[in-house]
Amino acid sequence: MTKVLIATVKPFAPAAVNAIKEIFDKAGYETILLEKYPEQSDFVKAVEDVDALIIRSDKATKEVIDSGKNLKIIVRAGAGYDNIDLEAATDKGVVAMNTPGQNSNAVAELALGMMVYLVRNQFNGTAGTELRGKKLGIHAYGNVGKYVAKIAKGFGMEIYAYDPFIPKETIEKDGVKVLNSVEELYKTCQYISVNIPANEKTKNSINYELLSLMPKGATVVNTARKEVVCEESLLKIFADRNDFKYISDIAPDCKDEIAGKFEGRFFFTPKKMGAQTSEANINAGIAAATQIINYLEKGDKTYQVN
Ligand code: 3PG
Repeated sequence: MTKVLIATVKPFAPAAVNAIKEIFDKAGYETILLEKYPEQSDFVKAVEDVDALIIRSDKATKEVIDSGKNLKIIVRAGAGYDNIDLEAATDKGVVAMNTPGQNSNAVAELALGMMVYLVRNQFNGTAGTELRGKKLGIHAYGNVGKYVAKIAKGFGMEIYAYDPFIPKETIEKDGVKVLNSVEELYKTCQYISVNIPANEKTKNSINYELLSLMPKGATVVNTARKEVVCEESLLKIFADRNDFKYISDIAPDCKDEIAGKFEGRFFFTPKKMGAQTSEANINAGIAAATQIINYLEKGDKTYQVN
């Protein structure tokens, strides 16, 4: 019997687990659930005799991949796959996939929600500011960026984007103004939504030079990965500009220093929660299960990332 492991340190909503199980039951597959596991070694062990694996931000390291004697496919139920050792997967002939777009709306709603929270002074009752009429720069116009733009339009924001991988016309169709460089984006917009993936090129790429270009009231909203923002630069810009604010879905490593020195100018979620909605879990979970069956039964490699 084909065995599928769902390994989630941060579990899916129960409705999503049920939906995934139902799909595998119908296909005659066995579903094994490993949630909130305390040690990485528990994950390594659980992979030993499964054919397929569904993960979230769980670390699919070389050790995990090599442990799976029968492992044929790993699906990251979500967008970012910086948590999968792609080289190890490729070396072992294991297909790695993600489920792009399935949790993007949830992430975008959180981005706007955190922005409102910060501009209203963390709901402390004092007079804050409004988003209406302000310029928002979308740093990478992928699935999340697109939703952020759509929701922010409802707030009456003026939307700009920079994305070298998407044709200008495609972005402009959404009523978004396209800028030609990342520098121009940061120079133009008081608000920046960071939506770039974390990879060797993007890590630490949001640095002091870029941040210092931002106009007065500069606010960066990061729902991507903490690693794309250079922390040394972050501390320096916070110190140099008392108008600078930073919101992030998961705190940077230097969070204590920021909290100690720059009160009221930041907000960090205690646990990464952009994709933590029932809807996002169900969408990504069903997509992952379907992709596994389509690959194992028909060799369909759509969304392969290695
Ligand atoms: C993603 O890359 O899809 C998001 O960051 C969500 O990650 P999560 O599944 O760990 O919440």
